[in-house]
Amino acid sequence: MENYSEKSYHIETFGCQMNKNDSELISLSLSRAGYAECASANEADIIVFNTCSVRQHAEDRVISRIGALKNRRKNKSIIVIAGCMAQRIAESLTGQNIADIAIGPYESPRIGEIVEQYFSGRDKTVYNSQLPQDFNTRIDPGLAEKKDSLPWHKWVTITHGCENFCSYCIVPYVRGPLISFPSDSIIAYIKTLANSGTKEITLLGQNVNQYGTGCDIPFYKLMERAAGINGIERINFLTSHPKDFDENIVYVIRDNKNISRAVHLPLQSGSDTVLSAMNRKYDTKHYLGIVDKINAELKTFSLSTDIIVGFPGETEKDFTATLDIVKRVRFDDAFMYAYSPREGTAAFKLEECLSRDMKIERLNRLIELQRGISREKLSARINMNEEMIAERISKKSGNELMGKTFLNHPVIIPGVRDDIGKKIRIRITGLKGNTLYGTKTA
Ligand code: SAH
Ligand code: SF4
Ligand code: F3S
Repeated sequence: MENYSEKSYHIETFGCQMNKNDSELISLSLSRAGYAECASANEADIIVFNTCSVRQHAEDRVISRIGALKNRRKNKSIIVIAGCMAQRIAESLTGQNIADIAIGPYESPRIGEIVEQYFSGRDKTVYNSQLPQDFNTRIDPGLAEKKDSLPWHKWVTITHGCENFCSYCIVPYVRGPLISFPSDSIIAYIKTLANSGTKEITLLGQNVNQYGTGCDIPFYKLMERAAGINGIERINFLTSHPKDFDENIVYVIRDNKNISRAVHLPLQSGSDTVLSAMNRKYDTKHYLGIVDKINAELKTFSLSTDIIVGFPGETEKDFTATLDIVKRVRFDDAFMYAYSPREGTAAFKLEECLSRDMKIERLNRLIELQRGISREKLSARINMNEEMIAERISKKSGNELMGKTFLNHPVIIPGVRDDIGKKIRIRITGLKGNTLYGTKTA
């Protein structure tokens, strides 16, 4: 009999930060089952793709990546598709032999066990139950030992799923209903992380502001408790939703120096008609009210957003309203997308009024506008004193460090390897492309 424990695995991750965290759990589960991590997909026995379904493009990328591996991968290696695509189209993936096993988000963290069963001859290949008893939590103290790409940083998933049903969005269908993990276990986990050297955490959820609704402490209280943990120097949180982003959250950020001032608050559209058709449950007035509140309380902060262009029915006037609000708010950064119809969502039934080229044309106009604003906002940082955490030696020069300021802007300073992971006071001296340059200050 073959010795399965000598088999190796390789994971490729697509999609959002929640998938990055899930991939760590997948890796933990495979290591616990005795498999060894392998840096190359071509040499691995188990090739895992942790996938995303949010836009068609995200799915196409995975399929073409698997295609590219076809004649390169090891003989007898198996392909496991995990994550959101596995939830959405498991049967078609295994049926067309694109994947040997498909495991949706509920069961991905027990992949080690599933793969072992597969090798020992069990023929079940589809695991996409969304039954509560099949749900595997995202809080596993074993992760404290696992190396992240930044050794001082950890993802902390606080909720799973989403029940907001924005009309364009597949997430509620592939990730299931909202689950908030118990605050006591989240806090205990963050303490374990801090004791093993973690300095920075990112609290994760599709809408973190909805954390604990009706069953536990609210999000702002959770963040306050996390901020009080010794050794945690920075707390980021992703993603916020304007309908649930209340003023208590702003006050907790204001009153706790270790909570990030880089707020990500997806707007999606600047037209109230489109926001309503998107089922976002807020209007532009409400959004601007939050921006004013953040402005008044935090003073120094950065604001980023997500925007979709070309939603069904979006007129030139609606699109102009998006451009106008982008000019008014002056986001530091924006993730901008052309609308991608997702089967099963409410918007899928709406007729599309724009061709692909027209959507791309609008998208390009928006991107150009935002690029100029991002650059202006970055150049306004010149001569400011800031703090940064150095992440790595710069690719261009061995005597320079690349990191992020506390407003989440990329920055380069002169420095040495020993400074990696340290909080450094700097003065911003210049800007090249989208990167700030700085020098250390006392
Ligand atoms: N939970 C977050 C993000 C979800 S997905 C939120 O509520 O904002 C990340 C981003 O992808 C969304 O903010 C949205 O801008 C974009 N997105 C989601 N579905 C999309 C679709 N069908 N077409 C284009 N962009 C989409
Ligand atoms: Fe999708 Fe809306 Fe949920 Fe975000 S809040 S994941 S956009 S349904
Ligand atoms: Fe994509 Fe699933 Fe995240 S659809 S955005 S990987 S929750």
